[in-house]
Amino acid sequence: MSIPEKFRAFFLDWPEAEGGKPVGKLGEIGPSALPEGDVVIRVSHTTMNYKDAMMVKGIGYRIKDFPFVPGIDLAGTVVSSGSPDFKAGDAVVLNGYGAGEHFAGGFAQYARARAEWLVPAPAGWDAADCMAVGTAGISAMIGALELEKHGVAPGKGPVLVTGAAGGVGSFSIAILAAMGHQVLASTGRMEEADYLKSLGAAEVLPRSEFENGPDRPMLPKRFAGCIDAVGGKTLSTVISSMDERGTIASCGLAGGNSFTASLIPFFLRGVRLIGVEGGHGPIAERREVWARLPKLVGRERLRAMTTRHVISEIPGLAELVLAGRQRGRAVIDVNG
Ligand SMILES: NC(=O)c1ccc[n+]([C@@H]2O[C@H](COP(=O)([O-])OP(=O)(O)OC[C@H]3O[C@@H](n4cnc5c(N)ncnc54)[C@H](OP(=O)(O)O)[C@@H]3O)[C@@H](O)[C@H]2O)c1
Repeated sequence: MSIPEKFRAFFLDWPEAEGGKPVGKLGEIGPSALPEGDVVIRVSHTTMNYKDAMMVKGIGYRIKDFPFVPGIDLAGTVVSSGSPDFKAGDAVVLNGYGAGEHFAGGFAQYARARAEWLVPAPAGWDAADCMAVGTAGISAMIGALELEKHGVAPGKGPVLVTGAAGGVGSFSIAILAAMGHQVLASTGRMEEADYLKSLGAAEVLPRSEFENGPDRPMLPKRFAGCIDAVGGKTLSTVISSMDERGTIASCGLAGGNSFTASLIPFFLRGVRLIGVEGGHGPIAERREVWARLPKLVGRERLRAMTTRHVISEIPGLAELVLAGRQRGRAVIDVNG
């Protein structure tokens, strides 16, 4: 079976008016909007990441060719494959590698990709489950693996998660709690405290404790580790609050894309700051993530942190995510 002449997509188009920015619309596109690739996928589900929300709203885009299909994550079934690694009917997942950023991604009923970017869907998980994970869940898992590699073992001390009620944050809590850590969750939405505790947080802290930055280079030692989805002044406060040899996995910038910090905690406490790159990393790292994650986060917990949507809801979802009001992860049925 080949790709139909027309299929449904949410895409960005360039308005006729001069000086505008891309406009998102639901409509039909053809195979020429898809990139080169040896595997054709019938997409079942996608998701709304922070990056997708920015793209949908025309913020920070670098694309020149329209129509353009956003969506950095997709899950579906192989229609045809020129690679021995995949065959028609296989359930596959694509996260990142430029999908939805540099070439057409998951907000369409069909996608084309290179086989080396694909991973098989975990046994027993459907496409919606895989998209509940998405790039946010992958980054949270990479962050947890980094803490593990740097000696942040369960029992060493509390581990902080910032931006806790968002996608990266929700996954970080669930993963770290399942690994046996005492997880402290920082949120600007204290009304979500019960939700955060249901994911495994031992304690919920208000965002205001961190968001103004530290008033001195070193604050009392509070955390053995941290997965930070916020950045900015929050990250500065976290650096000053780490215990000896504490490790921070820096995942996100929801609160600011730069920070200033004293170097003193790095030299006197041996604090480590590790960057997490969840969108384009080596496929071996992806395979490790997909092998470990389902053992830590079961389908029931996955569904507790997920809302389900259809493709026409994309513009509203993007607004919600950019306003920091989406709880957990948003999964989108592209055929709904
Ligand atoms: N490194 C990577 O490869 C990678 C991968 C995925 C995502 N990211 C980045 O990670 C960040 C989080 O992504 P996400 O998908 O989890 O987004 P999200 O679902 O929108 O969550 C972001 C959370 O950050 C908090 N927040 C929002 N605005 C804030 C502000 N002004 N100050 C302080 N906290 C604020 C909110 O949590 P509370 O309401 O709980 O406070 C919000 O839920 C984004 O910056 C995204 O670009 C990076």
